[in-house]
Amino acid sequence: MNKKPVIIDCDTGTDDAIAIIAALYSPELDLRAFTTVAGNVELEHTSRNTLNLVRYLGFDTKVAVGAAQPILRRTIIHSGDNTHGDTGLGTLVLPKTDQPFYNQTAVETIYEEALKADGELELIPIGPLTNIAQAIMVHPDLKNLIRRIVFMGGAKYGGNITTTAEFNIWGDPEAARIVFAAGIPLTMVGLDVTLKAALNLQDAADIRRIGTPAADVAADILDFMFERLGRGGEDALMHDALAVGVCINPDLVKMKHYFVDCECSGQYTAGHTFVATNRIFQGEPNCFVCEELDLPAFKAWLHGAIARSKA
Ligand code: BDR
Ligand code: CA
Repeated sequence: MNKKPVIIDCDTGTDDAIAIIAALYSPELDLRAFTTVAGNVELEHTSRNTLNLVRYLGFDTKVAVGAAQPILRRTIIHSGDNTHGDTGLGTLVLPKTDQPFYNQTAVETIYEEALKADGELELIPIGPLTNIAQAIMVHPDLKNLIRRIVFMGGAKYGGNITTTAEFNIWGDPEAARIVFAAGIPLTMVGLDVTLKAALNLQDAADIRRIGTPAADVAADILDFMFERLGRGGEDALMHDALAVGVCINPDLVKMKHYFVDCECSGQYTAGHTFVATNRIFQGEPNCFVCEELDLPAFKAWLHGAIARSKA
């Protein structure tokens, strides 16, 4: 099998952690590195969570630390609403590894791996796009070295952090704009599909039954998500795992090619992904937008990936 060389750029995060587990056990992927960014919680936590998780499961994949702040906005951008708990993994506490982070920044790691993969590297950003945009700015030749970016973020319609913006894109709108303008093939796995990617109690029980440390981590996180739902928070939505799934198998969704940009200056709409759906302004298509989800196929893929931790 020809494995896809990929980097996952993450702000780990509850659903990021499940995406990472699915990716680690997906034979279709050649995971070159994880790069971390501030988002769901502060960079210190997103980085630690990623490193602890990957090492706890026995993988030696590089984890490189990235941006602590968005490109222009100076605020700390964690959600502050207990969506991911205080440190990002709900109530789960993983053993702390004493192994170090990779000795290069996220930006340099992305560039280094892009050069090595000779045009084949794919990026799967599942947090704010800060590292990706910075890498494009620092290394302008990167746009010819990346095969595709499949990112979780944005929405054709609606939002989850504001009325019109999805959290990852809202976290760094200027970075998103740089990525949309880069000329790299893009696939947007946004709320139009991820709001449909909810697991239920039965799915969680099936995952728990797998009986491995990886499945237990996923099931513990799902328990937190159900408790979160009970207090009025978000459902057990697999936003980020769906981006990994779509990178491996685009048939999990239906997508269409559109012109997409990010609203940076709107007083109420900053972080909104503008998808040119109407006939009057169409623009030159630059991004595949996922519009429909095959939920049973996605669930089967996710369960199958986690179950491979038995092997
Ligand atoms: C995105 O924001 C975060 O809460 C999730 O990890 C996901 O990447 C969904 O809007
Ligand atoms: Ca995320």
